[in-house]
Amino acid sequence: MQNIIPISKDFFYVGSSDHGCTLFESHIPISRGVSYNSYLLKDESVVLFDLVDTAVADAFLENLEAALGGRKLDYLVLHHMEPDHTATFLRFRKLYPATRIVTNQKVVSMLKNFFPFTEENVFLVKEGDTMSVGRRTLRFIFAPMVHWPEVMMTYIEEEKTLLSADAFGTFGALGGSIFADEVHFEEEFLPDARKYYFNIVGKYGIQVQNVLKKAAALDIARICPLHGPIWRSGLEWYLKKYDTWSKYEPEEKGVAIFCASIYGHTENAARILAADLAERGVFVKVYDVTHTHVCDLLAEAFRYSHAVFASATHNLGIFLPMEVLLIDLKAHFWQKRGYALIENGSWSPQAGALMEEVLGGMRDLEKLGETVTVLSAVKEGTCRELHVLADAIAKDYFAN
Ligand SMILES: Cc1cc2nc3c(=O)[nH]c(=O)nc-3n(C[C@H](O)[C@H](O)[C@H](O)COP(=O)(O)O)c2cc1C
Ligand SMILES: [Fe+2]
Ligand SMILES: [Fe+2]
Repeated sequence: MQNIIPISKDFFYVGSSDHGCTLFESHIPISRGVSYNSYLLKDESVVLFDLVDTAVADAFLENLEAALGGRKLDYLVLHHMEPDHTATFLRFRKLYPATRIVTNQKVVSMLKNFFPFTEENVFLVKEGDTMSVGRRTLRFIFAPMVHWPEVMMTYIEEEKTLLSADAFGTFGALGGSIFADEVHFEEEFLPDARKYYFNIVGKYGIQVQNVLKKAAALDIARICPLHGPIWRSGLEWYLKKYDTWSKYEPEEKGVAIFCASIYGHTENAARILAADLAERGVFVKVYDVTHTHVCDLLAEAFRYSHAVFASATHNLGIFLPMEVLLIDLKAHFWQKRGYALIENGSWSPQAGALMEEVLGGMRDLEKLGETVTVLSAVKEGTCRELHVLADAIAKDYFAN
């Protein structure tokens, strides 16, 4: 049975959620499912904005047919070619062969690589183009690399609505409540929204900043993303989050201690440091890098102002889970933070120097204090060194 949710008089939610998805894009673990949003505008012309993933194809097509209520579907606007929004394309074309595809040249080129697709019935738009669909005007805003190069957005002028593609999206399936003000967004969705941002678009902070500049010039009362709830109140709060995230600035003051330990001694050192910092009033969190997925660690590293990387030496290298985290941080341009290092080794500790080499190749990072070397197990002398390291971290923490 269809589940169509009105957003305004002529504007409807026709997407659906996959509660069973546990590994988004085959690498990001998610625990609360994900929604694939699609929207239908019934003006003098009828316009569908985006398709969905195959996981929710049946529900979506049923919603669409019912929402059309026998009317002809004039246009399909495609904002983003990624398969989570176009995998149902051929099925859609079979059902709606007369519907005109409104999109840009890059989307068309990509569609051709994914599907046997001919360019008939395509209407190409460029940045800033407008298109009247009756009482309403669509304005197309390009957003390259948020999250793929072909991405564009639509601003429906009379609805003051920005259809923002993947931007402002989040993991988390939607129930009957599709608006951010109808769910406990900060409590339930924000950790997923942060994880979504940093793992999906986080690398492209400059491009997100460009979109935010374009958005600032628009009178926006509603944001309709491709995943997660719709924003119709409190938009400033979420826009501010995006501004902070895309500038790579810490969202909160805190020391995230990332620890990669084989037998537990490096973790022991990390916890001694954490307790020392907490005693001084520093907000601190310890993460077991070997048992926590790198996608979660990435989001937490971006969340806080400071980080400590503590790793055992493994085959003359950084213990692999820590190396993976550092590579991912580098790939996502982690910056504007202070960090400290703890290493461990039983015969030739190397992890500290190697971690510093990776971090040294990244921009705008400040090393705090000296690397603390643990020789197998923590001793009195190690505790003294950890105390001195806590001094250096706390000094920077309270100075900024
Ligand atoms: C497979 C393997 C390779 C290791 N390679 C090194 C090494 O290259 N250099 C070194 O000093 N210690 C090496 N170690 C030893 C650990 O780094 C050392 O025992 C350390 O104290 C472990 O810290 P943890 O208790 O936090 O796991 C290796 C250990 C394992 C299991
Ligand atoms: Fe995407
Ligand atoms: Fe997406």
